Amino acid sequence: MAKLGTIARSGFLRNPNEGMRLIITTIFGVVLGFFIGTSFPTVSITKLHFPSSIISFIEDKNSGITTQALLNHAWTSSHKNNSMLYSNGTAKIYVPSNPKGTERLAPGIVVPESDFYLRRLWGDPNEDLQIRQKYLVTFTVGLDQKKNINAAVKKFSGNFTIMLFHYDGRTSEWDEFEWSKQAIHVSARKQTKWWYAKRFLHPDIVARYEYIFIWDEDLGVEHFNAEEYIKLVKKHGLEISQPGLDPNRGLTWEMTKRRGDSEVHKATEERPGWCSDPHLPPCAAFVEIMAPVFSRNAWRCVWHMIQNDLVHGWGLDFALRKCVEPAHEKIGVVDTQWVVHQVVPSLGNQGKAENGRAPWEGVRERCRKEWGMFQTRLADAEKAYYKKMGITPPNDTHV
Ligand SMILES: *[C@@H]1O[C@H](CO)[C@@H](O)[C@H](O)[C@H]1NC(C)=O
Ligand SMILES: *[C@@H]1O[C@H](CO)[C@@H](O)[C@H](O)[C@H]1NC(C)=O
Ligand SMILES: *[C@@H]1O[C@H](CO)[C@@H](O)[C@H](O)[C@H]1NC(C)=O
Ligand SMILES: *[C@@H]1O[C@H](CO)[C@@H](O)[C@H](O)[C@H]1NC(C)=O
Repeated sequence: MAKLGTIARSGFLRNPNEGMRLIITTIFGVVLGFFIGTSFPTVSITKLHFPSSIISFIEDKNSGITTQALLNHAWTSSHKNNSMLYSNGTAKIYVPSNPKGTERLAPGIVVPESDFYLRRLWGDPNEDLQIRQKYLVTFTVGLDQKKNINAAVKKFSGNFTIMLFHYDGRTSEWDEFEWSKQAIHVSARKQTKWWYAKRFLHPDIVARYEYIFIWDEDLGVEHFNAEEYIKLVKKHGLEISQPGLDPNRGLTWEMTKRRGDSEVHKATEERPGWCSDPHLPPCAAFVEIMAPVFSRNAWRCVWHMIQNDLVHGWGLDFALRKCVEPAHEKIGVVDTQWVVHQVVPSLGNQGKAENGRAPWEGVRERCRKEWGMFQTRLADAEKAYYKKMGITPPNDTHV
């Protein structure tokens, strides 16, 4: 009781007269705001028109503090932002700094980014999430590789959101694994990981995640731990990286081979004549597309470079360096957390047998063709830019 009395005594509205005075003061403020607004060209317009029914509703509830705070806030923010009111007392919201197309919304209600956190259908939304994962790992999978993927997922801690892109349409079979029930499953038949990435990993959708792993399904992860990997990537400032590949398995570039004598490496030597510049691919600023890891910022750039129709992503590895500066310092290979490329024929076999050729042949041919198309597009785009700006292109744009 004593407490209530104190609140009443120190309340903003001691009697109805004072309430009236508050409204009049506020209206004066609003009118003043209007004149201030009209005398400066405006950028944002704050809605200040309060239907009298709302005001009386608030008054009826006798919550003078709320009324005052509300009106006061409206007045000060319009005052600060030079907002404009129409003379009839109405105003429209227009906030140019909002994301394109949302200028008519009050900034407070605009949510430009999202995440993949699973929520409950019941309870308090504030209490839905026990953990907000900071990292995202995606695998493009067919059920045939479930053993391998199950082993891989176990190398990623609870700090990772797991996302599977299913190219064979089989999704529910994965539920034999407990983790699958917490994973995000996206199913679209016979598509490649860059197709999925372009469509489901928009930078605003994955903005919550500090690092994004976009991995193939045929990686052996016995010598890999994701938390340790993140630590090294942070320590060495790698914006784009991959784990080293077992040098004894399959054909790989020198750059992506695991080394026994370092934590990470950012440069290498290739066969004579392969590198025009030691700072350029494939000698530096280079990782392959089978197991890349992107920082949030690097991904925002790389996502924009992915072409909707060039689904195999060939050539992308040579162009990743366009997204970070200086590329030869921010792109690298982690040696102490490494993987084995098992070279399992998978999606390649999902091609189409044509003219007496095996399915994989047509896929391979398309990969090569896409690579050429990508290079041409990139070169043309840069040429057009430099021409438009009237400047001479730097020497390294031919790679
Ligand atoms: C007005 O400016 C203040 C401080 O600069 C800002 O916090 C507020 O969001 C702005 N209001 C609008 C409607 O833009
Ligand atoms: C108030 O004035 C503006 C600008 O003249 C006009 O666009 C708007 O329709 C008016 N609103 C009402 C409710 O009359
Ligand atoms: C998850 O991240 C937190 C904060 O960085 C860290 O303390 C914790 O050890 C991580 N969890 C695991 C399983 O590594
Ligand atoms: C560009 O490369 C050519 C051939 O490699 C070289 O002769 C020329 O000096 C280079 N130009 C600049 C601006 O570095």
